[in-house]
Amino acid sequence: MGRFFKSSIGRKYAMALSAFFLMFFLLQHFAINILSVFSPDAFNEASHFMGTFWAVQYVLQPILIFGVVYHFVMGFILEAKNRGARVKKYAKNNGAANSSWMSRNMIYSGLAILAFLVLHFIDFWIPEINTKYIQGDMSGLLGDGDGFRYYEELVHKFVNPLRVGAYVAAFIFLSLHLMHGFSSAFQSAGATSMRKEKLQLFGKAYAILIPLGFIFIALFHHFNH
Ligand code: HEM
Repeated sequence: MGRFFKSSIGRKYAMALSAFFLMFFLLQHFAINILSVFSPDAFNEASHFMGTFWAVQYVLQPILIFGVVYHFVMGFILEAKNRGARVKKYAKNNGAANSSWMSRNMIYSGLAILAFLVLHFIDFWIPEINTKYIQGDMSGLLGDGDGFRYYEELVHKFVNPLRVGAYVAAFIFLSLHLMHGFSSAFQSAGATSMRKEKLQLFGKAYAILIPLGFIFIALFHHFNH
């Protein structure tokens, strides 16, 4: 087993597995965030549940953090190995001849997403952890009215047009990353050619609709605060 994950095929398999897990996370993250557009109360309740339920906090969250770090570290390792292999195999970069522009640029779209995550953590995650675990004061989660402050905080973050621009740009990179990532992950997971076409279609729809949905949320709050 250990040897399998150290082999190049094993690494690709593990990379695909972590990618599917992150895609699942993204879907549920979107499902909760889109509530903020339709019902601030529902968004507050869902956020509070996710932020305080023990299984989410102490089981799913550590798995998520591991998944994100693993995906990035393995991404860099695979990129470095591919570069090494390319230099050996071809006198010059194979270029567009046998790989798409996006597949060659996964590392750059990945880096853009990493930069976004740093900003995103500073915006949302760190203040949350600070209130809950460092100050240990759950009343810090309450808003100005009778409910929680998750909704107010979210809307407040999308006032600054620079931040909204940075988020939208990151979501475009996310779409490009997912577009190639999906088909590559299906390939590594060994999808058969019969199923492949439907899966590719689903992958393309996901890669466009989810980032578009996130863009919608950011713009909606920017123009409706
Ligand atoms: C408009 C778009 C988005 C909004 C409004 C949003 C909002 C939030 C909020 C409110 C939190 C804090 C949750 C908590 O209290 O712990 C959070 C956490 C997080 N977000 Fe987003 N998010 C957006 C897009 C994204 C995207 C595109 C990604 C990934 C590429 C992402 C990745 C994460 C991660 C990894 C966390 C930490 C999860 C945790 O362990 O709590 N978010 N986001």
